[in-house]
Amino acid sequence: MRVLVFAATNHSQSINKQLAMYVAQRVKGASSHNVNIEVLDLNDYEMPIYSQDREEVSGIPQLAYDFRSKIAEADAIIIGFAEHNGTYSVAYKNVFDWTSRIDRSVYQSKPALLLATSPGPGGANNVLTQAVTSAPYFDMKVIAQFSLPSYFDNFQGAEEVIKDAELEQQLLTAVDALNSELK
Ligand SMILES: Cc1cc2nc3c(=O)[nH]c(=O)nc-3n(C[C@H](O)[C@H](O)[C@H](O)COP(=O)(O)O)c2cc1C
Repeated sequence: MRVLVFAATNHSQSINKQLAMYVAQRVKGASSHNVNIEVLDLNDYEMPIYSQDREEVSGIPQLAYDFRSKIAEADAIIIGFAEHNGTYSVAYKNVFDWTSRIDRSVYQSKPALLLATSPGPGGANNVLTQAVTSAPYFDMKVIAQFSLPSYFDNFQGAEEVIKDAELEQQLLTAVDALNSELK
């Protein structure tokens, strides 16, 4: 089993990556050899800003094919979405746009657990909703979603716990849904 984990951001100290890693550790078998967790960094997929003119002249960059291959190799995907001005970060949108030019089925029917967090009370729920709503168009099988509000109040990085019991339960329910899918 291979689980691909990434944050949809290029922030080196990404709180969405922290959350996604926290969740990945709770996937059944993650601590044994049964499940291989691969963490991808979007900075490794930085490409020129998408433009139709660029595509016509130079084609689709190899990195977009590489990103698509990573998804193809995975049995499941965990993504933590950063919210910038109510929507996707530019870093993610650019990788996504280029990859969608290879084939619109960017996510290749893979089961996905979608997460989002932000320092504010909204918990990046706007971008999470966009990702969930648009998922069918890009062949993503959304198994569960979870938004963590007020990251710095609700998450204890060092101790790796979500402080609020209700939020922790919501998250565990989402992880259970993914675990059932991976059986
Ligand atoms: C350009 C910009 C726009 C932002 N817009 C939002 C926003 O609309 N909603 C929100 O909850 N947080 C917003 N934030 C704060 C981000 O949630 C915060 O920077 C967070 O760390 C991003 O996630 P990441 O660390 O995983 O990249 C914004 C941050 C930046 C830099």
